[in-house]
Amino acid sequence: FDLDAFVAGLPKAELHLHIEGSLEPELMFELARRNGITLPFASVEAIRAAYAFSNLQDFLDIYYQGAGVLQTERDFHDLAMAYFTRLNADGGRHAEIFFDPQTHTDRGIPFSVVADGLLAGMAQAEREFGISSKLILCFLRHLDEEAAFATLKAAEPYLNRITGVGLDSSEVGHPPAKFERVFKAAGERGLLKVAHAGEEGPPEYVWEALDRLRVDRIDHGNRSLEDAALTARLAAQEMTLTVCPLSNLKLCVVNDMTAHPLKRMLDLGLKATVNSDDPAYFGGYLNANFVAVAKGVGLSRADLATLARNSFTGSFLDEEQVALRL
Ligand code: HPA
Ligand code: ZN
Repeated sequence: FDLDAFVAGLPKAELHLHIEGSLEPELMFELARRNGITLPFASVEAIRAAYAFSNLQDFLDIYYQGAGVLQTERDFHDLAMAYFTRLNADGGRHAEIFFDPQTHTDRGIPFSVVADGLLAGMAQAEREFGISSKLILCFLRHLDEEAAFATLKAAEPYLNRITGVGLDSSEVGHPPAKFERVFKAAGERGLLKVAHAGEEGPPEYVWEALDRLRVDRIDHGNRSLEDAALTARLAAQEMTLTVCPLSNLKLCVVNDMTAHPLKRMLDLGLKATVNSDDPAYFGGYLNANFVAVAKGVGLSRADLATLARNSFTGSFLDEEQVALRL
Protein backbone atom coordinates (compact mmCIF):
# COMPACT_ATOMS: atom_id res chain seq x y z
CA PHE A 1 0.00 0.00 0.00
CA ASP A 2 0.97 3.65 -0.40
CA LEU A 3 2.30 4.30 3.10
CA ASP A 4 2.69 8.08 2.77
CA ALA A 5 -0.83 8.55 1.43
CA PHE A 6 -2.34 6.22 4.03
CA VAL A 7 -0.63 8.04 6.92
CA ALA A 8 -1.52 11.46 5.48
CA GLY A 9 -5.18 10.44 5.25
CA LEU A 10 -5.53 9.26 8.85
CA PRO A 11 -7.13 11.74 11.27
CA LYS A 12 -4.46 12.25 13.94
CA ALA A 13 -3.72 14.07 17.16
CA GLU A 14 -0.29 14.89 18.51
CA LEU A 15 0.19 14.36 22.26
CA HIS A 16 3.95 14.81 22.71
CA LEU A 17 5.29 18.01 21.21
CA HIS A 18 7.56 20.52 22.92
CA ILE A 19 6.68 23.82 21.27
CA GLU A 20 10.24 25.10 21.81
CA GLY A 21 11.39 22.00 19.92
CA SER A 22 9.45 23.09 16.84
CA LEU A 23 11.69 26.16 16.39
CA GLU A 24 13.15 25.67 12.90
CA PRO A 25 16.57 27.22 12.18
CA GLU A 26 14.99 29.62 9.65
CA LEU A 27 12.64 31.05 12.30
CA MET A 28 15.49 31.03 14.83
CA PHE A 29 17.47 33.32 12.51
CA GLU A 30 14.48 35.54 11.84
CA LEU A 31 13.74 35.97 15.56
CA ALA A 32 17.42 36.59 16.32
CA ARG A 33 17.45 39.36 13.72
CA ARG A 34 14.15 40.81 14.97
CA ASN A 35 15.41 40.83 18.58
CA GLY A 36 18.98 41.97 17.92
CA ILE A 37 20.53 38.72 19.10
CA THR A 38 23.72 37.29 17.57
CA LEU A 39 23.57 33.51 17.12
CA PRO A 40 26.77 31.46 17.48
CA PHE A 41 26.08 30.02 14.00
CA ALA A 42 26.82 31.57 10.60
CA SER A 43 23.89 30.03 8.72
CA VAL A 44 20.82 27.82 8.82
CA GLU A 45 22.98 25.01 7.41
CA ALA A 46 25.52 25.44 10.21
CA ILE A 47 22.73 25.15 12.78
CA ARG A 48 21.39 21.96 11.17
CA ALA A 49 24.92 20.54 11.05
CA ALA A 50 25.18 21.03 14.82
CA TYR A 51 22.16 18.75 15.34
CA ALA A 52 24.06 15.51 15.89
CA PHE A 53 23.35 14.13 19.34
CA SER A 54 24.59 11.10 21.21
CA ASN A 55 22.17 11.36 24.12
CA LEU A 56 19.38 13.45 25.66
CA GLN A 57 21.71 15.94 27.39
CA ASP A 58 23.59 16.72 24.14
CA PHE A 59 20.27 17.72 22.63
CA LEU A 60 19.00 19.64 25.66
CA ASP A 61 22.10 21.86 25.72
CA ILE A 62 21.49 23.08 22.16
CA TYR A 63 17.69 23.16 22.57
CA TYR A 64 17.89 25.52 25.58
CA GLN A 65 20.38 27.69 23.70
CA GLY A 66 18.05 27.90 20.67
CA ALA A 67 15.10 28.97 22.84
CA GLY A 68 17.04 32.13 23.76
CA VAL A 69 15.79 33.92 20.61
CA LEU A 70 12.19 33.75 21.90
CA GLN A 71 11.58 37.11 23.57
CA THR A 72 8.19 38.63 22.84
CA GLU A 73 4.57 37.54 22.83
CA ARG A 74 4.67 37.78 19.04
CA ASP A 75 7.67 35.37 18.95
CA PHE A 76 5.73 32.72 20.87
CA HIS A 77 2.64 33.33 18.72
CA ASP A 78 4.71 32.91 15.52
CA LEU A 79 6.37 29.78 16.92
CA ALA A 80 3.00 28.19 17.68
CA MET A 81 1.53 29.10 14.28
CA ALA A 82 4.56 27.69 12.46
CA TYR A 83 3.96 24.39 14.25
CA PHE A 84 0.21 24.32 13.60
CA THR A 85 0.83 25.06 9.91
CA ARG A 86 2.99 21.90 9.73
CA LEU A 87 0.45 19.87 11.72
CA ASN A 88 -2.34 21.01 9.40
CA ALA A 89 -0.31 19.97 6.35
CA ASP A 90 0.07 16.52 7.96
CA GLY A 91 -3.68 16.14 8.51
CA GLY A 92 -3.45 16.66 12.28
CA ARG A 93 -6.71 17.69 13.94
CA HIS A 94 -5.69 18.22 17.57
CA ALA A 95 -2.50 18.82 19.59
CA GLU A 96 -1.60 18.87 23.27
CA ILE A 97 1.53 20.95 23.39
CA PHE A 98 4.19 21.15 26.08
CA PHE A 99 5.92 24.36 27.02
CA ASP A 100 8.83 24.90 29.40
CA PRO A 101 8.11 28.18 31.23
CA GLN A 102 11.28 27.98 33.34
CA THR A 103 13.46 28.12 30.21
CA HIS A 104 12.02 31.57 29.64
CA THR A 105 11.31 32.97 33.12
CA ASP A 106 14.90 32.11 34.16
CA ARG A 107 16.15 34.55 31.47
CA GLY A 108 13.74 37.29 32.46
CA ILE A 109 10.81 36.65 30.12
CA PRO A 110 7.55 36.92 32.10
CA PHE A 111 5.31 33.84 32.27
CA SER A 112 2.48 35.94 30.80
CA VAL A 113 4.49 36.76 27.64
CA VAL A 114 5.04 33.06 26.97
CA ALA A 115 1.51 31.95 27.80
CA ASP A 116 -0.30 34.82 26.03
CA GLY A 117 1.75 34.27 22.86
CA LEU A 118 1.14 30.52 22.76
CA LEU A 119 -2.58 30.89 23.56
CA ALA A 120 -2.93 33.46 20.75
CA GLY A 121 -1.30 31.01 18.32
CA MET A 122 -3.61 28.23 19.50
CA ALA A 123 -6.68 30.43 18.98
CA GLN A 124 -5.51 31.36 15.48
CA ALA A 125 -4.95 27.68 14.58
CA GLU A 126 -8.48 26.87 15.71
CA ARG A 127 -9.90 29.70 13.59
CA GLU A 128 -7.81 29.15 10.46
CA PHE A 129 -7.35 25.37 10.42
CA GLY A 130 -10.03 24.06 12.76
CA ILE A 131 -7.24 22.46 14.81
CA SER A 132 -8.05 22.20 18.52
CA SER A 133 -5.27 22.25 21.09
CA LYS A 134 -4.46 22.13 24.78
CA LEU A 135 -1.51 23.44 26.76
CA ILE A 136 0.62 21.37 29.15
CA LEU A 137 3.05 23.16 31.46
CA CYS A 138 6.24 21.13 31.94
CA PHE A 139 8.47 21.42 34.99
CA LEU A 140 12.20 21.12 34.26
CA ARG A 141 13.30 18.14 36.33
CA HIS A 142 16.97 19.19 36.52
CA LEU A 143 15.77 22.15 38.63
CA ASP A 144 14.48 21.72 42.17
CA GLU A 145 11.02 21.24 43.61
CA GLU A 146 10.91 24.81 44.93
CA ALA A 147 11.39 26.18 41.39
CA ALA A 148 8.57 23.92 40.18
CA PHE A 149 6.27 25.28 42.93
CA ALA A 150 7.21 28.85 41.93
CA THR A 151 6.27 28.00 38.32
CA LEU A 152 2.91 26.58 39.39
CA LYS A 153 2.31 29.81 41.30
CA ALA A 154 3.26 31.95 38.29
CA ALA A 155 0.74 29.92 36.25
CA GLU A 156 -2.10 30.64 38.69
CA PRO A 157 -3.85 33.31 36.52
CA TYR A 158 -3.74 30.89 33.55
CA LEU A 159 -4.94 27.68 35.16
CA ASN A 160 -8.31 27.85 33.38
CA ARG A 161 -6.39 27.76 30.07
CA ILE A 162 -3.79 25.13 31.02
CA THR A 163 -4.90 21.51 30.89
CA GLY A 164 -2.11 19.74 32.68
CA VAL A 165 1.41 19.57 33.97
CA GLY A 166 4.31 17.49 32.68
CA LEU A 167 7.89 16.69 33.59
CA ASP A 168 10.77 16.97 31.12
CA SER A 169 14.50 17.70 30.71
CA SER A 170 17.39 15.56 32.03
CA GLU A 171 15.84 12.32 33.24
CA VAL A 172 18.56 10.20 34.82
CA GLY A 173 19.27 11.36 38.39
CA HIS A 174 15.96 13.25 38.57
CA PRO A 175 13.32 10.61 39.37
CA PRO A 176 9.61 11.45 39.33
CA ALA A 177 9.46 11.18 43.15
CA LYS A 178 11.43 14.45 43.34
CA PHE A 179 8.22 16.18 42.14
CA GLU A 180 5.61 14.20 44.08
CA ARG A 181 4.40 17.17 46.13
CA VAL A 182 4.15 19.66 43.25
CA PHE A 183 2.25 17.12 41.14
CA LYS A 184 -0.12 16.58 44.06
CA ALA A 185 -0.64 20.35 44.30
CA ALA A 186 -1.26 20.52 40.53
CA GLY A 187 -3.83 17.71 40.81
CA GLU A 188 -5.60 19.59 43.61
CA ARG A 189 -5.91 22.56 41.24
CA GLY A 190 -7.69 20.35 38.70
CA LEU A 191 -4.74 19.86 36.36
CA LEU A 192 -4.14 16.56 34.57
CA LYS A 193 -0.68 14.99 34.82
CA VAL A 194 1.88 13.50 32.46
CA ALA A 195 5.60 12.79 32.86
CA HIS A 196 8.51 11.78 30.67
CA ALA A 197 9.63 8.41 32.01
CA GLY A 198 11.63 5.52 30.66
CA GLU A 199 13.24 7.48 27.81
CA GLU A 200 16.75 7.13 29.29
CA GLY A 201 15.65 6.39 32.85
CA PRO A 202 14.98 2.88 34.19
CA PRO A 203 11.60 1.11 34.52
CA GLU A 204 11.53 2.18 38.20
CA TYR A 205 10.96 5.77 37.03
CA VAL A 206 7.85 4.63 35.12
CA TRP A 207 6.54 2.88 38.27
CA GLU A 208 7.17 6.11 40.21
CA ALA A 209 5.36 8.22 37.63
CA LEU A 210 2.35 5.89 37.95
CA ASP A 211 2.31 5.37 41.71
CA ARG A 212 3.71 8.60 43.14
CA LEU A 213 2.78 11.20 40.51
CA ARG A 214 -0.43 9.38 39.52
CA VAL A 215 0.00 10.42 35.88
CA ASP A 216 -2.69 10.23 33.21
CA ARG A 217 -0.13 9.44 30.46
CA ILE A 218 3.49 8.35 30.22
CA ASP A 219 5.69 10.27 27.77
CA HIS A 220 8.06 7.89 25.93
CA GLY A 221 7.98 4.85 28.25
CA ASN A 222 10.36 2.83 26.04
CA ARG A 223 12.27 1.22 28.87
CA SER A 224 9.04 -0.17 30.36
CA LEU A 225 9.63 -3.13 28.07
CA GLU A 226 12.49 -4.27 30.34
CA ASP A 227 9.95 -5.08 33.08
CA ALA A 228 7.17 -7.59 32.33
CA ALA A 229 5.19 -6.71 35.48
CA LEU A 230 5.26 -3.07 34.41
CA THR A 231 4.06 -3.74 30.87
CA ALA A 232 1.25 -5.88 32.32
CA ARG A 233 0.28 -2.98 34.60
CA LEU A 234 0.39 -0.44 31.74
CA ALA A 235 -1.73 -2.69 29.53
CA ALA A 236 -4.28 -3.44 32.29
CA GLN A 237 -4.59 0.26 33.07
CA GLU A 238 -4.83 1.17 29.35
CA MET A 239 -2.16 3.77 30.03
CA THR A 240 -1.36 5.87 26.96
CA LEU A 241 2.33 6.02 25.99
CA THR A 242 3.39 8.95 23.81
CA VAL A 243 6.16 7.39 21.74
CA CYS A 244 8.52 9.48 19.57
CA PRO A 245 10.32 7.38 16.93
CA LEU A 246 12.60 9.95 15.25
CA SER A 247 13.50 11.42 18.64
CA ASN A 248 14.44 7.95 19.88
CA LEU A 249 16.69 7.48 16.85
CA LYS A 250 18.36 10.92 17.06
CA LEU A 251 18.96 10.66 20.82
CA CYS A 252 20.29 7.09 20.51
CA VAL A 253 17.47 5.62 22.62
CA VAL A 254 17.33 3.11 19.74
CA ASN A 255 20.31 2.29 17.52
CA ASP A 256 18.29 1.77 14.37
CA MET A 257 14.63 2.24 13.42
CA THR A 258 14.36 -1.51 12.76
CA ALA A 259 15.03 -1.98 16.50
CA HIS A 260 12.28 0.44 17.59
CA PRO A 261 10.01 -1.09 20.28
CA LEU A 262 6.72 0.31 18.92
CA LYS A 263 5.58 -2.93 17.28
CA ARG A 264 6.38 -4.89 20.45
CA MET A 265 4.41 -2.34 22.46
CA LEU A 266 1.34 -2.86 20.27
CA ASP A 267 1.76 -6.65 20.42
CA LEU A 268 1.85 -6.43 24.23
CA GLY A 269 -1.46 -4.58 24.17
CA LEU A 270 0.02 -1.24 25.17
CA LYS A 271 -1.84 1.91 24.16
CA ALA A 272 0.92 3.57 22.17
CA THR A 273 0.75 6.74 20.10
CA VAL A 274 3.19 8.29 17.60
CA ASN A 275 4.52 11.82 18.11
CA SER A 276 7.28 14.15 16.97
CA ASP A 277 8.70 15.43 20.32
CA ASP A 278 11.04 18.17 18.99
CA PRO A 279 10.55 18.03 15.22
CA ALA A 280 12.85 20.93 14.29
CA TYR A 281 15.74 19.11 15.98
CA PHE A 282 14.94 15.49 15.13
CA GLY A 283 14.22 15.81 11.42
CA GLY A 284 10.51 15.21 11.01
CA TYR A 285 6.97 16.15 11.96
CA LEU A 286 4.08 13.83 12.75
CA ASN A 287 3.67 11.99 9.44
CA ALA A 288 7.44 11.55 9.05
CA ASN A 289 7.45 9.79 12.42
CA PHE A 290 4.63 7.46 11.37
CA VAL A 291 6.33 6.65 8.07
CA ALA A 292 9.81 6.11 9.55
CA VAL A 293 8.65 3.72 12.25
CA ALA A 294 6.21 1.93 9.93
CA LYS A 295 9.07 1.23 7.51
CA GLY A 296 11.47 0.32 10.30
CA VAL A 297 9.36 -2.25 12.10
CA GLY A 298 6.79 -3.14 9.45
CA LEU A 299 3.48 -1.73 10.67
CA SER A 300 0.25 -2.80 8.98
CA ARG A 301 -2.59 -0.49 8.03
CA ALA A 302 -4.48 -1.85 11.05
CA ASP A 303 -1.51 -0.95 13.31
CA LEU A 304 -1.38 2.56 11.87
CA ALA A 305 -5.12 3.03 12.32
CA THR A 306 -4.83 1.83 15.94
CA LEU A 307 -2.02 4.32 16.62
CA ALA A 308 -4.01 7.18 15.11
CA ARG A 309 -7.15 6.18 17.02
CA ASN A 310 -5.14 5.95 20.27
CA SER A 311 -4.01 9.55 19.75
CA PHE A 312 -7.62 10.69 20.21
CA THR A 313 -8.78 8.23 22.87
CA GLY A 314 -5.55 8.94 24.79
CA SER A 315 -6.00 12.70 24.48
CA PHE A 316 -7.51 15.02 27.07
CA LEU A 317 -10.51 15.73 24.84
CA ASP A 318 -13.85 14.57 26.25
CA GLU A 319 -15.65 11.64 24.62
CA GLU A 320 -17.95 13.76 22.51
CA GLN A 321 -15.01 15.78 21.16
CA VAL A 322 -13.15 12.56 20.37
CA ALA A 323 -16.15 11.19 18.49
CA LEU A 324 -16.33 14.37 16.40
CA ARG A 325 -12.69 14.03 15.34
CA LEU A 326 -12.39 10.30 14.65
N1 HPA B 1 13.09 14.41 26.79
C1 HPA B 1 13.22 15.16 27.89
N2 HPA B 1 13.08 16.47 27.88
C2 HPA B 1 12.81 17.08 26.72
C3 HPA B 1 12.66 16.36 25.56
C4 HPA B 1 12.80 14.95 25.61
O1 HPA B 1 12.69 14.21 24.61
N3 HPA B 1 12.39 17.27 24.59
C5 HPA B 1 12.36 18.48 25.16
N4 HPA B 1 12.62 18.39 26.46
ZN1 ZN C 1 9.60 15.00 25.05
